Amino acid sequence: MAQVDCDEWAIARMSRPTWVAISQGEIAGFIDMQSNWLIDMLFVHPEHQRKGVATALLARVETEAGAAEISVLHTYSSLIAQTFFEVCGFTLLLARSVVVRNERFRQAVMEKKL
Ligand SMILES: CC(C)(COP(=O)(O)OP(=O)(O)OC[C@H]1O[C@@H](n2cnc3c(N)ncnc32)[C@H](O)[C@@H]1OP(=O)(O)O)[C@@H](O)C(=O)NCCC(=O)NCCS
Repeated sequence: MAQVDCDEWAIARMSRPTWVAISQGEIAGFIDMQSNWLIDMLFVHPEHQRKGVATALLARVETEAGAAEISVLHTYSSLIAQTFFEVCGFTLLLARSVVVRNERFRQAVMEKKL
């Protein structure tokens, strides 16, 4: 399992906006956005998956992008999330293999024209 670097995590949270979905007082999921309009993180708690939480979080980001007159969003999706992003209108640009903290992952570079 990949290890979490707490300092790296804190820097990431402070450096970019993060939107959090709350369900009955608990965090159900979150999404963040880098300054270049790259969705870096999108996670939904397993107990809240397949209830539209990620769809709602993405819609919130798209509203922000629309207000900023941004025409395209990008993400480096996990294999698990690729279908979600496709359902939400993203297209696959490139599938690649990356190594993060000694773990190899398959990554889908995707974009959505708004
Ligand atoms: C991928 C993820 C963000 C989806 O969150 P979610 O809140 O469950 O997604 P939604 O309920 O909004 O799903 C909307 C649609 O996307 C598709 N979808 C979502 N998760 C899917 C999955 N695991 N497999 C296939 N299709 C999926 C479905 O069409 C779904 O509609 P349906 O439930 O009516 O069939 C969530 O499963 C997750 O956090 N996974 C682990 C972390 C991860 O890989 N994050 C991405 C990093 S880039």
